[in-house]
Amino acid sequence: MPNLEWDVFIKDASNIIFDTNQLTFVPRRINKPAKHRLDHRILAPLVFHFAAMKVFFSMKKQSNNSKKQSLLELTLRLGRPAIVSAAIFSLGVNILFLALPLYTTQVYSRVLSSGSLQTLFVITIITIFAFIVSEILDFLQSRILAGFGTMLDQRVSGHIFAALFDGIVRRDAQAGAQALRDLDSFRQTITGPSIAVLFDVPWTPVYIIILLIIDPIVGLVCIIGALILLGLAILQDRLARPLILEANKEAVKGYAFTEAALRNAEVVRGMGMLGAIGEQWAKYRQNGMQHGTEASEVADRFGGAIKFFRNVIQVMIIGVGAVLILDNQISSGLLFANMILSSRALAPIDRIVSTWPTFVAAGNSFQRLNELLENYTPAQTATDLPRPAGKVTVEGLNYLLPDSGRLLLTNINFAVEPGEFLGVIGPSGAGKSTLARLLLGIHQPLNGAVRLDGSNVFGWSRNHFGRYIGYLPQDTELFAGTVRENIARFQTDVTDEEVIDAAKKANAHELIVRLPQGYDTELGAGGAVLSVGQRQRVGLARAMLRSPALVILDEPNANLDGEGEQALLMALREMKKAKQTVVVVSHKPSMLQDADKLLLLRDGKIELFGPRQAVLDRIQQIQAPKPPIPATEKLAKEAQS
Ligand SMILES: Nc1ncnc2c1ncn2[C@@H]1O[C@H](COP(=O)(O)OP(=O)(O)OP(=O)(O)O)[C@@H](O)[C@H]1O
Ligand SMILES: [Mg+2]
Repeated sequence: MPNLEWDVFIKDASNIIFDTNQLTFVPRRINKPAKHRLDHRILAPLVFHFAAMKVFFSMKKQSNNSKKQSLLELTLRLGRPAIVSAAIFSLGVNILFLALPLYTTQVYSRVLSSGSLQTLFVITIITIFAFIVSEILDFLQSRILAGFGTMLDQRVSGHIFAALFDGIVRRDAQAGAQALRDLDSFRQTITGPSIAVLFDVPWTPVYIIILLIIDPIVGLVCIIGALILLGLAILQDRLARPLILEANKEAVKGYAFTEAALRNAEVVRGMGMLGAIGEQWAKYRQNGMQHGTEASEVADRFGGAIKFFRNVIQVMIIGVGAVLILDNQISSGLLFANMILSSRALAPIDRIVSTWPTFVAAGNSFQRLNELLENYTPAQTATDLPRPAGKVTVEGLNYLLPDSGRLLLTNINFAVEPGEFLGVIGPSGAGKSTLARLLLGIHQPLNGAVRLDGSNVFGWSRNHFGRYIGYLPQDTELFAGTVRENIARFQTDVTDEEVIDAAKKANAHELIVRLPQGYDTELGAGGAVLSVGQRQRVGLARAMLRSPALVILDEPNANLDGEGEQALLMALREMKKAKQTVVVVSHKPSMLQDADKLLLLRDGKIELFGPRQAVLDRIQQIQAPKPPIPATEKLAKEAQS
């Protein structure tokens, strides 16, 4: 997407969806009933289904069903003019191809019988000219398809990229960088040379009809041959497709496993897990390879048979043609025309069989992408709300862990006034980080709502909302890029002053200027160049950019030394002075000494909430052991008894 701004690009793509079709993206269940799954299995790999048939032939039916279409299908519809033009060019190429059989018959019937070199010269020039035009059309066809590929990529890839984040946040097991690989494979198949094969298929009956006109017997031989080849092709598909799909599935699993293992490379190295991890990886790979080998064995067997039958049919056509010539039923010039036409009629079947695995893989990718997009709602153009004052209200919030039915947060109600500092405490696994994520509108609550200045944070346009929010997650990961880019959140309109101001507010400026290249130090993947504590302080600076109205810090001091903690405390005081609302999740009471309110969370429920001192007193009361009975009283009691 070299010449498109990211924002414009996302907006552009979503506008098309919403303006022209008023699409509603209704999230559907991933586990579909068996019937649906069967439909997908049969239909998805048939690239005809969407590229040639659905897009090309059943335009009417499509407009009726437009509500059910995914973004990808919809974009394919937008590409209909391109596909239609490519098909028309293919029509031209195929018509012009008839020049060759015509030429041979003319040479036989006119030139050889009359000996006219002039005729030969003229028809040769005409035929060569026809081929030049045919080549130009062919070139234009591939350019149109390539353009369609670029359009498809520009319209869809941004959404897939965004849907990936949705998927990961939802903990969708399907989501992963695989989706972008899927898009590439799908795009390459439907806009590359493979799709052109499909355009030639409708010409098989046309060539056969011409053969039937020349001579019914020759046409019949060709029909029988085509049916045999088609039968073999279908049989090969039945046998090979499950194997190809299985091989693909294992490969995807293998890649996902490797990605996860690489992220934890230090653990793997440190505890000598490489052998065991390697075995697991090898299992996926071996399974994939085995199915792949079996599939290619099937393909080889059938490929051989198909080639054999094709040769036999060609021989039969020449043989039958020779008999007809001897019988004086056709002229000898038609023998070559028959040969050329029949070979052209059967070629698409042959080519489809050899490119079939590509189509199956593309169909598979198409299905996976649709599943990912089914649960994705593109960002809608929303009214930009003004900068909030920072009042947070949580009303009857329940949060259900997706796919598990476990209620992680139950009936959470509280409010934080603008400029207040709320400390969230509670044992591990109480749901503190989950609550922080809900405050940010990352997850959708089961019911209830989190509101910032009265507006539901979940429905807030992410781009706008992000400007008013600072967030430091529990595991601070930075992105590959410079310190400056990370603090600027990769936004290009952030000035140096703003970056330095954020770093100073987070008390990270000194630390950053001591780095080898200061603000321009490249951090490497995940911010690996910095220590974990340093990463946390740069992460804090990132959260402080442009003094957001609401700052949420999840265990901000987890990896800080004494100096770092002091810097953090000072930053918290500064934020309070600047009337920013701050929510800090922490295990350490020292971090929360300036808090206005405390919230004690246990097992996903609010146990205590109120002014800091009141909550601390209550905790002490609960925790305080019963005062020991003084020794003198004890003695007196014993004496009495
Ligand atoms: N994606 C998930 N899948 C399964 N369980 C999850 C997921 N996210 C959170 N949980 C569960 O939710 C509970 C609360 O997790 P959370 O991270 O909010 O706890 P926490 O209070 O922040 O703990 P800690 O103090 O250790 O950070 C945990 O029991 C955890 O197992
Ligand atoms: Mg946590």
